Amino acid sequence: MRVNVTNLTFGYDYRTVLKDLSFKINSGDFLAVIGNNGSGKSTLIKCMLGINKVGPNQIFLDDVDIATYKSFINIGYVPQKFDDFNYEFPITVNEILTASNISNITEDSKLEILDKIGILELQHENINNLSGGQLQRVFIVRSLMNNPKMLILDEPTVGVDRKNVEAFYKTVNELNKDGITIILITHNIHESNANYSHVLSIHNGEGVFQEVERGDDE
Ligand SMILES: Nc1ncnc2c1ncn2[C@@H]1O[C@H](COP(=O)(O)OP(=O)(O)OP(=O)(O)O)[C@@H](O)[C@H]1O
Ligand SMILES: [Mg+2]
Repeated sequence: MRVNVTNLTFGYDYRTVLKDLSFKINSGDFLAVIGNNGSGKSTLIKCMLGINKVGPNQIFLDDVDIATYKSFINIGYVPQKFDDFNYEFPITVNEILTASNISNITEDSKLEILDKIGILELQHENINNLSGGQLQRVFIVRSLMNNPKMLILDEPTVGVDRKNVEAFYKTVNELNKDGITIILITHNIHESNANYSHVLSIHNGEGVFQEVERGDDE
């Protein structure tokens, strides 16, 4: 999926959070978004998902203005933080995935994605018994079930141990190689083995956008 953000300015009430932000990525690119707490990273993502309403001519997805964009099913989104996530009633991983199956993928394809993300053995587990990192992966599986063209991950590895962080980014790198555009928000860009192609650094609401040479992701 192509993303074109042009002079995006956005704020909440009277306060401006993003000032004149511009960047452009192509299908198959991997964008890392970095910046301090409160710099506006999640705000930017919410603008790109239509959650925060922005005016015309500022954000284009596959050349369509976000103001008229309808195909949000093409975007897999894993929001920030599930710490306070709790279900009132017992529901298993498999059940929550079945309930979220908008595009009606087959049972086999679902199991394949669970396996790819490394949580196949958790499919019958009650989701309230999962660790934060495991739950995060359930949501990643869910976001992949609609066969997205772009995957947006907002700090997906907070609280995940080092070994699993590495495994996680290996999977993300593979998804990117399969052609899925990735937008990753992270604080630890240099510590991760994420094989990103571009970096957007947000500071005081202003963005610095750079292309980087891709490393070896092994
Ligand atoms: N719904 C909202 N209403 C009003 N202000 C908000 C809202 N969401 C975020 N903000 C403010 O906008 C600024 C940017 O917040 P945002 O969540 O985008 O930062 P962030 O870069 O994602 O930070 P973090 O690294 O902590 O996740 C902050 O000052 C925050 O208080
Ligand atoms: Mg955030």
